[in-house]
Amino acid sequence: MKGRSWSRRFFLGASAAFAGTRLTGRAASAPLTKTTRDDRLALLGGTPVRSRPFSSWPILEDGDRKIWKEVLETRRWNRRGGSYVERFEAEWRERLGAKYVVATSSGTSALYTSLNALGVGPGDEVIVPPYTFVATINVVLLCHALPIFADSDRETSQLDPSRIEETATERTRAVIPVHLGGNVCDLDRILKISRRRGLKVVEDACQAHLAEWRGRPVGTLGDLGCFSFQASKNLNCGEGGAISGDDPELAATCTSFQDAGRGYQATSEGRLERAAAPLAHVRSGDNRRLTEFQGALLLAQLQRLDAQTRLRRENAAYLTRLFHEIPGIEPSRQYEGCTGNAYHLYMFRYRPEAFAGLPRNRFLEALRAEGVRCSPGYRPLNREPFLEQTLQSRAFRRIYPERVLKEWPERNRCPENDRLCEEAVWLGQSVFLGSRSDMEEIGAAVRKVSRQASTLVGS
Ligand SMILES: Cc1ncc(COP(=O)(O)O)c(C=O)c1O
Repeated sequence: MKGRSWSRRFFLGASAAFAGTRLTGRAASAPLTKTTRDDRLALLGGTPVRSRPFSSWPILEDGDRKIWKEVLETRRWNRRGGSYVERFEAEWRERLGAKYVVATSSGTSALYTSLNALGVGPGDEVIVPPYTFVATINVVLLCHALPIFADSDRETSQLDPSRIEETATERTRAVIPVHLGGNVCDLDRILKISRRRGLKVVEDACQAHLAEWRGRPVGTLGDLGCFSFQASKNLNCGEGGAISGDDPELAATCTSFQDAGRGYQATSEGRLERAAAPLAHVRSGDNRRLTEFQGALLLAQLQRLDAQTRLRRENAAYLTRLFHEIPGIEPSRQYEGCTGNAYHLYMFRYRPEAFAGLPRNRFLEALRAEGVRCSPGYRPLNREPFLEQTLQSRAFRRIYPERVLKEWPERNRCPENDRLCEEAVWLGQSVFLGSRSDMEEIGAAVRKVSRQASTLVGS
């Protein structure tokens, strides 16, 4: 799998890909226990623990079909003149308890729009985690700002707040904490350090719909919060995004930026209205608008999000209990303030020493052969060659002193994250929309690989 980028797209079409794997007969899905006769690993010709697909994604119901058709018939497919995007903004605002929500064409657009609204630009530094999807860093580069990586906390798979202080300089303008996998960063510490140093905080909640910190939905605690509604996400319309926040001026600036720089003002009731200004355009902007079709699909899918989130949490908690009994499997810990994990990803660390030294990639192959779809997660983003290439581009060389660019690789070493990337294993969110017996089969598959690991070592 060398060279393959393990991104959210990996989880798409999970059931379709599963259907393509060769299964050897055993139709029943009962958990395999020590008493089962054929305990040989499926990779070595044994019977797989699981022979049916997990829940498929996305979910499509009659309400989705109906609302989609409704939009078609209105012939107002763009949000201007339509009502669906605006209704979705109002519902998402309500659900988050935010004063303002601005829909955008993607999570990347939400992040890029937010950085622009906060005035991040050439010469600025932005602190980012190395364990995230590439978009978190791309938007910083698009602003011609310098991404500075703060190492990960391996136990939680989140940005380590204690690294913010040591990476910040007088040039640092913002921090982008990513609530990776729907788990939540230590927001108490991140917000405290950021306030003390005057840094803006853009929460990347692209994987964390309805995750909570001390009872409040994430995306509402920093200066701005960003969501993605891309196809793999827990709330999805194919492609889409949103920005949340409480500051009327920032909300109006974000709205303006994603709508070609037209003038907007925020009302105290949370609406964002075209300003009755003499100038139609008040800034240079972009087109990052969501369409009415996407807004309508989100409205329909939002009706199911609470129930799905509860189900994911229940199943994930059960799997964690099962995993705690298996030496060498360490589910990502949550910080004490995390009162709700969205489980876009279920992340755990794999310790080969407890599996007779079986390398992680062989463990993953064995687990997949047993019928459990899993991935090794991200590679270290701070080491991606494209970063150095971008920093050596003409534009960056004109903005930043040679010394700053030369020191960048050394300044951005993240040894904890390097280890995390070697140890991590992920399961995707749709796996957790199934039953307890699905969790028992995952547990049974991991236990089977654990029992039989020595039969694979060296094979
Ligand atoms: C952590 C994170 N940030 C940003 C994004 C970008 O979102 P989008 O794909 O909607 O542009 C994603 C999407 O995968 C993500 O997972």
